[in-house]
Amino acid sequence: MVAIPAAIAAPPELKAVIKGLSFFYGDHQALKDIHLGLPDNAITALIGPSGCGKSTLLRCFNRMHDLYPGNRYVGEIVLRPGNLNIISPRVDPMEMRLRVGMVFQKPNPFPKSIFENVAFGLRLKGINNRHVVAERVESALRSAALWDEVKNRLKQSAYALSGGQQQRLCIARALAPEPEMLLFDEPTSALDPAATAHIEDLIYQLKDRLTIVIVTHNMQQAARVSDETVFLYHGEVIEADKTSTIFENPSKELTSEYLTGRFG
Ligand SMILES: Nc1ncnc2c1ncn2[C@@H]1O[C@H](COP(=O)(O)OP(=O)(O)OP(=O)(O)O)[C@@H](O)[C@H]1O
Ligand SMILES: [Mg+2]
Repeated sequence: MVAIPAAIAAPPELKAVIKGLSFFYGDHQALKDIHLGLPDNAITALIGPSGCGKSTLLRCFNRMHDLYPGNRYVGEIVLRPGNLNIISPRVDPMEMRLRVGMVFQKPNPFPKSIFENVAFGLRLKGINNRHVVAERVESALRSAALWDEVKNRLKQSAYALSGGQQQRLCIARALAPEPEMLLFDEPTSALDPAATAHIEDLIYQLKDRLTIVIVTHNMQQAARVSDETVFLYHGEVIEADKTSTIFENPSKELTSEYLTGRFG
């Protein structure tokens, strides 16, 4: 089945368009002919039961799967502007990852100082001027709502931070190269409610500048932060629509069964 949200009728507002995307781990097909439009400056939530392909879909967006032989993409993920097909072998994954950042479930700071974690992507981009790097690091830490907590300890190891602070550091690290899209794979599942609320606020504020895709198992979180919701099941898009429509008036029986916990 193919779900094309209404937004696809207004192409200029889409940041990315997924066309006929299938993905294979060797012989195992994890994504099946996905068609989706991701609106610009909006938050799209990916929901669905464990194993339905949420992380697999997210990882296609920054070519994480390239690292393993036997993995295979079919179709296109077109990033705008420039109509760059993210999954084309002709597109350099390193270059593309500076446009599309990712934040993982568990905070994964590098074994470096707080400052150098955030400066990492800038150095990859060839930005080495001391003043420029310092300015961009500060600005990314401010955007990640972490600056006030770390400004006097930038040279300390990132491992000296709490879990919630480490996750905000990872967000700052992803923001520093000024990506156009940011992908979050269950970014708060390892955090307590206060740290979760902090990250949710932050994600919400970032959508003014970026297009965001978030995978979450927390239905309240999807309802709170996202504008659009995509329900995946067995590697297929069952339904994709405005978040309010998906939660209040889904058009597919399977979606409402999942949302009300009546899943077999
Ligand atoms: N590296 C891999 N090699 C082979 N199969 C994989 C690999 N990673 C995932 N899969 C399979 O692909 C399917 C989709 O997995 P994926 O991790 O995308 O699910 P998910 O929706 O993110 O689940 P969860 O909610 O548990 O994180 C599953 O059937 C899974 O077993
Ligand atoms: Mg997952």
